[in-house]
Amino acid sequence: MIVIGGSASSKLAQDLALVMNAEYVSAGVKRFPDGECYIHLQKESIDDEVVIVQNSYPDTNLVELLLLQDAAISIGAKKVTNVIPYFGYARQDERFNKGEPLSAKVMVDHIQLNADKVVLVDIHNINMMDWFDEAEVVNTYAAPAIGRYFKDQSIDLVLAPDEGALKRAGMVAEVLGCEWDYLTKTRLSGTQVHVSPKNIDAKNKKVLIVDDIISTGGTIAAATDELKKAGARSVFAACTHGLFIGGGLDRLRTYCDKVVCANTLESEVSVVSVAPEIAKHL
Ligand code: R5P
Repeated sequence: MIVIGGSASSKLAQDLALVMNAEYVSAGVKRFPDGECYIHLQKESIDDEVVIVQNSYPDTNLVELLLLQDAAISIGAKKVTNVIPYFGYARQDERFNKGEPLSAKVMVDHIQLNADKVVLVDIHNINMMDWFDEAEVVNTYAAPAIGRYFKDQSIDLVLAPDEGALKRAGMVAEVLGCEWDYLTKTRLSGTQVHVSPKNIDAKNKKVLIVDDIISTGGTIAAATDELKKAGARSVFAACTHGLFIGGGLDRLRTYCDKVVCANTLESEVSVVSVAPEIAKHL
């Protein structure tokens, strides 16, 4: 098996190659003066299965992913598996008004054209997997790796910011051997949310909030605020995909005692590797 790392996910790809004891091949990505993507795989022929690790976010990385598939097939790849650590447009999974595209499905349809298998990580809406009708698809979670990361930190309680994220919190709590529950969240705008701690007893507890995505950080900030008001001793935050839009990380650091995320998106707090979780599906 050969692991090819696209420019959005090269660190994770190298990590994965190490875990799999597989050969790592660089994508050799450059940009033409007009900004278009140029790929030159650092290998002349392949007589093996390839695993391409590349985010489909932002848009430039999606184009790179599609070009990588073609380049790998052109030199003989026997089977193409796309590992897409962060799947762009996953939150645009419904048509709310007439005239809108079903963006997440458009991405699925294009990606599966040249893929035999697709490995997703903590996909926002699990029902999206039904749209893969040409390629095999699996979804894996960062939660076990997040649990292992916090194992010796005496966490008392793991919380999901809303009921929909409860399963993920449960997976982390299971590794930690502690309680878990969920908060109730009402979204007021793109950047503002209201979070209620329900009847959760957070007094003097070390709490870990776990979500799939931190985007602006509004959800975690509001949740941390409420938990501190409720007497939490410390509040840590962890997520799979740390987008940290518009200074979200700096903002969160003023609220939380610690913020970490998985390495599906590269940032200074991407300290939890999902390579072992991905390897289980290859
Ligand atoms: C929402 O459904 C997601 O699970 C996250 O809770 C959301 O994307 C977080 O966004 P923000 O960090 O902007 O509050």
